[in-house]
Amino acid sequence: MKSSVKGKFITFEGIDGAGKSTHISFVADYLKAREKIVITTREPGGTELGEKLRDLLLHEKMHLETEALLMFAARREHLAQVIEPALARGDWVISDRFTDASFAYQGGGRQLNVTKLETLERWVHPHLQPDLTLLFDVPLDVAKARLDATRTPDKFEQEKSVFFAATRTEYVRRAKQFPARFRVIDGTQSILQVQNELHKLLDEFIVSG
Ligand code: ADP
Ligand code: TYD
Repeated sequence: MKSSVKGKFITFEGIDGAGKSTHISFVADYLKAREKIVITTREPGGTELGEKLRDLLLHEKMHLETEALLMFAARREHLAQVIEPALARGDWVISDRFTDASFAYQGGGRQLNVTKLETLERWVHPHLQPDLTLLFDVPLDVAKARLDATRTPDKFEQEKSVFFAATRTEYVRRAKQFPARFRVIDGTQSILQVQNELHKLLDEFIVSG
């Protein structure tokens, strides 16, 4: 039977190498075991067009405002094609990044005027915010060591530590600004410890309805 209850929107955030992607399947499996229909997706990306924009965004140099506009263009498509229909069906949506990433990377890291980002946010999703945002927080050296050990850096991952310091600071600032939806997870813990924390936190989130 179809649920009449609107689905929940969960976003994963953090600087590159914080451990988001590692824990998404754990959270999805946890929710599926509790009979939720779960869609996992990512930004930039999540649609055919969005994945093309992702490729440009992660590999081409561009003006900082072009970058912000393309992030929100990909997001508009993602909302229209994936996120909003899924939530309307009552499904749960887990997205590897959403608009907090634009505030952290384009606003914090690249220093784009926050008013411009707020304007784009109001345009693209005036009435929607994540129900829960999991911020994986790690010191820069931990994130860098993890990335160095595992992958070829894309355009963002090649940025200097001052960029990531500003990005991390903006994430933490937003977590304090929106305490009702943010949960900050100490990403320096072992994967098992993070999973235990996620387990408790999701139990509380589900109970709180
Ligand atoms: P992100 O998606 O935040 O960029 P990933 O989840 O891809 O980060 O993790 C980056 C690397 O760090 C991966 O190789 C992953 O296995 C490793 N990693 C993630 N979380 C932890 C952790 N808690 N402890 C040790 N290594 C981790
Ligand atoms: P991500 O998928 O986390 O990278 P990876 O697959 O390498 O783990 O995100 C891609 C990059 O895009 C990441 O460096 C952050 C950046 N980004 C922004 O700068 N602004 C945004 O609004 C979003 C969604 C991502």
